[in-house]
Amino acid sequence: MKKVNIAIVGATGMVGRTFIKVLEERNLPIENIYFFASSRSAGSKISFKGQEYTVEELNENSFDRKIDIALFSAGASASEKFAPIAASKGCVVVDNSSAWRMDPKVPLVVPEVNPQEVRKHNGIIANPNCSTIQAVVAIKPLHDKYTVKRIVYSTYQAVSGAGMKGYKDLEEGLKGAPPQKFPHPIAGNCLPHIDSFLPNGYTKEEVKMINETRKILGVPDLRITATTVRVPVFNGHSESINLEFEKQFDLDELKETLKNAPGVVVQDDPENNVYPMPINVSGRDETFVGRIRRDESVESGVNLWVVADNIRKGAATNAVQIAEELVKWWNE
Ligand code: A2P
Repeated sequence: MKKVNIAIVGATGMVGRTFIKVLEERNLPIENIYFFASSRSAGSKISFKGQEYTVEELNENSFDRKIDIALFSAGASASEKFAPIAASKGCVVVDNSSAWRMDPKVPLVVPEVNPQEVRKHNGIIANPNCSTIQAVVAIKPLHDKYTVKRIVYSTYQAVSGAGMKGYKDLEEGLKGAPPQKFPHPIAGNCLPHIDSFLPNGYTKEEVKMINETRKILGVPDLRITATTVRVPVFNGHSESINLEFEKQFDLDELKETLKNAPGVVVQDDPENNVYPMPINVSGRDETFVGRIRRDESVESGVNLWVVADNIRKGAATNAVQIAEELVKWWNE
């Protein structure tokens, strides 16, 4: 099997550190690995599989050596600038930022949903938004069977999704400190505001969920609306997902479909208080689905409660799975 040279860009960040953890756990055949961040943390040390590495400052020459795959999570502006440089030197970038997701030349991939798309890359593959990834893992098997015609998303998103600074705002806010990252205190609060507001009153996060879901499912005009909310949870995004279908369904059969779907774990035993919760999903790579019940207000619809570790399946694990798809392909 061909071994690959890997780079982690944004190695010191919330997602970057999880890239490292996930790579240590899985079996991607790695020859060499390089770690990049900004000048702020260049020179600091990172340990990977028992060996110590020095973090390098990311610059125009970082990809002059042979790097097969670079996992980027250093924000949209670093991706805008450096992903094309990396791609021009023969590296495939798996980018966790929002910079390239809606570019028609860039595949947007969730390996359980559209793995074949990796083969269409032009040097950059985008990792979807964390809230979109867990949603489509749950929706895709139902869409294949019953054809989704409308989606209503309401999210309850953890502070880890806003990086180290978001995490600190909750940690310090619980001790009474004023917020540094969010516009209001997050401790004891809910903020119906993730990313910036657009002229139509939606936030960018909401529009990302709408557009990315359409792109990944391959239904450009799918009717979707979303309200995304930051809640005082450290890690693990929760989502209420309301789906309306073209076709009729049997609820038991729908539950069976979800139980057999790749990457999905059904936790649905309300009588025994069993349903997915963020405190139970941290460190897991699957998407957890519960509260599965018919929407009695429409002809054919269902409500789902969908929870996943937003830093793992919502970012790092998904990106590593994309890298695994690439390596699988290169080894064919
Ligand atoms: P640094 O630690 O040097 O600031 P998070 O999302 O958790 O805040 O992490 C962001 C990650 O992206 C960090 O590793 C950060 O490095 C890195 N980063 C931010 N801006 C740049 C940049 N312009 N070039 C390279 N890495 C960057």
